Amino acid sequence: MDRIKLGERYFSPYLSAAEIDSTIDAIAARINADYADSKSLLFLSVMNGAFMFTADLVRKITVPSTVSFIKVSSYEGLSSRGEISMKLPLSCDIEGCDVIILDEIVETGLTVDYLFDYLEPRNPASIAVSTLLYKKGMHKGRHEIKYPGIVMQENLFVVGYGLDYDEKGRTLKDIYILSED
Ligand code: IMP
Ligand code: MG
Repeated sequence: MDRIKLGERYFSPYLSAAEIDSTIDAIAARINADYADSKSLLFLSVMNGAFMFTADLVRKITVPSTVSFIKVSSYEGLSSRGEISMKLPLSCDIEGCDVIILDEIVETGLTVDYLFDYLEPRNPASIAVSTLLYKKGMHKGRHEIKYPGIVMQENLFVVGYGLDYDEKGRTLKDIYILSED
């Protein structure tokens, strides 16, 4: 993996496709064990960013499940606006379902809090969160991130594998990190 340029910024290799795959193997193993008896497992993928993570994770799930999508947005450029808006609401009934929210990265956790507030009145049996990357040091949300893939201790900006920098870099198969020079 070489350094890449997106717009005016340079990004260095951070996680290869193979490392992402083994991280998702570990998440799937935990979910397969914890939800082995679930009768109504529903993955709720947060668009746009989680589309690759969702596709790769659900194919490793052995428990019968369904998948649905929701779109919210809070990010512009390199930082969160702190204000979340619903771009595409839920299109299915989640009453009695074991919902697992899938996000590609959790930073402040405000998106996750917003989704819990939106989902809870719809009476799911349970709600949990899985994210490929978790900027734990930045988290200030009210809800636990139960199934994180990789915990990033610092606030580093990443792109690739669904993650974008102003819509750039989303389709890359590996993950890159913003480099200063
Ligand atoms: P939160 O609400 O602060 O947890 O932010 C969650 C959303 O911000 C993620 O789903 C991403 O869409 C976006 N985001 C957070 N950190 C990054 C990053 O390093 N690169 C690209 N997008 C990010
Ligand atoms: Mg996202």
